[in-house]
Amino acid sequence: MSGQSVDRGGLGGVSGRLDDRGEPGEGAVQEEPSLQVSRLAYAYPDGTQALYGVDLSIARGERVALLGPNGAGKTTLVMHLNGILTAGHGSVSVAGLPVRANTLKEIRRRVGLVFQDPDDQLFMPTVRDDVAFGPVNLGVRGEELERRIKDALDRVGMLEAIDRPPHHLSYGQRRRVAVATVLAMEPEILVLDEPSSNLDPASRRELAEILRSLDVTVLMVTHDLPYALELCPRSLILSGGVIAADGPTRELLADTELLASHRLELPYGFAISGP
Ligand SMILES: Nc1ncnc2c1ncn2[C@@H]1O[C@H](COP(=O)(O)OP(=O)(O)OP(=O)(O)O)[C@@H](O)[C@H]1O
Ligand SMILES: [Mg+2]
Repeated sequence: MSGQSVDRGGLGGVSGRLDDRGEPGEGAVQEEPSLQVSRLAYAYPDGTQALYGVDLSIARGERVALLGPNGAGKTTLVMHLNGILTAGHGSVSVAGLPVRANTLKEIRRRVGLVFQDPDDQLFMPTVRDDVAFGPVNLGVRGEELERRIKDALDRVGMLEAIDRPPHHLSYGQRRRVAVATVLAMEPEILVLDEPSSNLDPASRRELAEILRSLDVTVLMVTHDLPYALELCPRSLILSGGVIAADGPTRELLADTELLASHRLELPYGFAISGP
């Protein structure tokens, strides 16, 4: 979608600390949910109603998959989470702070959004410049900037590409760099729109390891149901612009009727074993 890259300037975050146990910070106590969406409805300017009243709440440190068929409204929903789109009706809050015109800067410190298409995220002449862009916008300079750039690229296995132009990289490599641009912001909430698409199996597994190693709340849009099962204890099904199901990923994926009614299918030969 055009225009998204223009908005990336404000993406940002504050925490993103590594957890020694490699698990999300379940012990962390925070009164406010990391993400609270209430009665969110949205129609595009051409009149297409994409969201009909979405309610969801995600606690700090949770990893949640957002599933649903093509056209369900998943991308539309995630673009509300850092104010790229603003609510027609309803509200979105990040750690208690409502997404509004006057809070966008702080919201974009907290919410790191990895777009569905890496080419919407990368627009600078070199990988280094792209990864630096967000932190520089936050005022990060000098050694701290260098640390963030190298750390983020190292985590996605792309440090060697630091001086290359993003448009010379393969799609999968660009996707990794797109993830690095957001990691460099050290966000509190990481929102990824179909992160495993077009990744080779090893890169897909490595991305899973990266996501597991971060002490951040994760909301991951995916059509890759085994990936959701592997990474996210909880899943939401968005269908027809509303949340149609919310529960343990294993239970949702074991419910063949539920999956079929929302055009979701497990890959051939993949079976959910008992509880
Ligand atoms: N810029 C736009 N203008 C008008 N309608 C749009 C626009 N972008 C998306 N839509 C419509 O909004 C609805 C939700 O689209 P959205 O991209 O959020 O779906 P999605 O769940 O992300 O699908 P996919 O799995 O294919 O990525 C669809 O009916 C789509 O056609
Ligand atoms: Mg989408």
